[in-house]
Amino acid sequence: MSEDAFKKIVSHCKEYGFVFQSSEIYDGLSAVYDYGQMGVELKNNIKKYWWDSMVLLHENVVGIDSAIFMHPAIWKASGHVDAFNDPLIDNKDSKKRYRADVLIEEYLAKIDDKINKEVEKAAKRFGDSFDEAMFHRTNPRILENQAKRDEIHARFAKALNDSNLEELRRIIIDCEIADPISGTRNWTDVRQFNLMFITEMGSTADGAMKVYLRPETAQGIFVNFLNVQKTGRMKIPFGIAQTGKAFRNEIVARQFIFRMREFEQMEMQFFVRPGEELEWFAKWKEIRMKWHKALGYGDNKYRFHDHDKLAHYANAATDIEFEMPFGFKEVEGIHSRTDFDLVSHEKYSGKKLQYFDPELNKSYTPYVIETSIGVDRMFLSIISAAYTEEELDGGETRVVLKLPAALAPIKLAVLPLVKKDGLPEKAREIIDNLKFDLKCQYDEKDSIGKRYRRQDAIGTPYCVTVDHQSTKDNTVTVRYRDTMEQERVAIDKLADIIADKASMKNLLKTI
Ligand code: GAP
Repeated sequence: MSEDAFKKIVSHCKEYGFVFQSSEIYDGLSAVYDYGQMGVELKNNIKKYWWDSMVLLHENVVGIDSAIFMHPAIWKASGHVDAFNDPLIDNKDSKKRYRADVLIEEYLAKIDDKINKEVEKAAKRFGDSFDEAMFHRTNPRILENQAKRDEIHARFAKALNDSNLEELRRIIIDCEIADPISGTRNWTDVRQFNLMFITEMGSTADGAMKVYLRPETAQGIFVNFLNVQKTGRMKIPFGIAQTGKAFRNEIVARQFIFRMREFEQMEMQFFVRPGEELEWFAKWKEIRMKWHKALGYGDNKYRFHDHDKLAHYANAATDIEFEMPFGFKEVEGIHSRTDFDLVSHEKYSGKKLQYFDPELNKSYTPYVIETSIGVDRMFLSIISAAYTEEELDGGETRVVLKLPAALAPIKLAVLPLVKKDGLPEKAREIIDNLKFDLKCQYDEKDSIGKRYRRQDAIGTPYCVTVDHQSTKDNTVTVRYRDTMEQERVAIDKLADIIADKASMKNLLKTI
């Protein structure tokens, strides 16, 4: 998808009340966004889909809601004070700041693109007789590009693992990576930049206490591990889920709601016996991928990306990437976090955080598998995949958001054909019956065609038109968003028809 197409999605989000720039009338606040009347419904539905898939479908997963402010020692224990850094580099000509690792990743992605294009061209040329594996092994241009990629990739992975900032700069220079704005290679040194926001709490004679805005929700789960385990009589393996705001002072904040300074996470920490963590890691990878694919946008839109550099707490890690308009990007991280967090909190708090396993008759510090997904990135992936421009018969076009019905902000629009003859009253009667289960919208303004287009643009899966026949025989026409087909149905069948596709229950049953 082109940059233009992405711009269209961003303006569509604004035009139809999904996402607004924060503080817009004051010229905005960079990388902070507000969700509008449609956006909040879609966002809440995404959160419900996640929450129910965790705590309804898994008997051994429970939820919590911990505070954003936490004792500052927590962030020392978690490693965020010392290690939650991004390597940044400035271009001296454009005065723009970049993440050094992102510049190199983009360079590697360009080589991948070159290789893929070469393969695509050859596949077209050779048709059915094309042997892709052989082509990879023998084509000189591919071999050359692959060797270059492997060499840079190996240097990059090592530099990240060793936190070798000088080597990161060297790679940027050696690869002749230029600033996209100034076009020059006049780079500063690479420096580390801590991403946490700091504020002050209370006021004492000694001064206020420095506190952080949490950069992840996960630590709220770790510090409550024993509270939940004991009060909930939880047996290992079990999980704790939570959704909530997180804050990061991102250096490169761009691509709309992809990288924000205030965002929302949905995280689950799953506590397991030591030694069983990699088995559970594999299980949660599978469960989470199924959750994504159940939305029906096509399996080819998703892929796993294993980490080159493992975070200080992990012994295995992968991302679930989604094909955004600007390429495959991380939407969710799945990490095997070992016992790092609990052991560290034990050390810093001086409190025991162990579990007595009645089956093994011994105490141990559980290992943890984490699934961590950003609500806003999930929102962006869904909107991007759903946004469709269609040419209709007669040369007309329509913009339709092909949202999964269960996630759509409005499930049903009820439209009286005219504003008289008792049709508005009949329409209101339908809404009054259905509104307890379904988010409905009443619309009587403009022609029926225009009203359909408005509903298409916000992704409403069902439009019901109330006409004169409706007042006589209690039937209406239902118009389906994706096919635009219409059928006449009895009003008392509407709830069943809509529930069949639009209920969260039926979506959850597919995972
Ligand atoms: N507790 C682990 C953790 O926070 P992460 O990979 O840093 O891991 C998890 O973040 C998810 O949170 C990401 O996959 C992404 O969806 C989301 N996320 C992270 N930073 C973000 C940002 N600046 N803006 C929007 N979403 C973000």
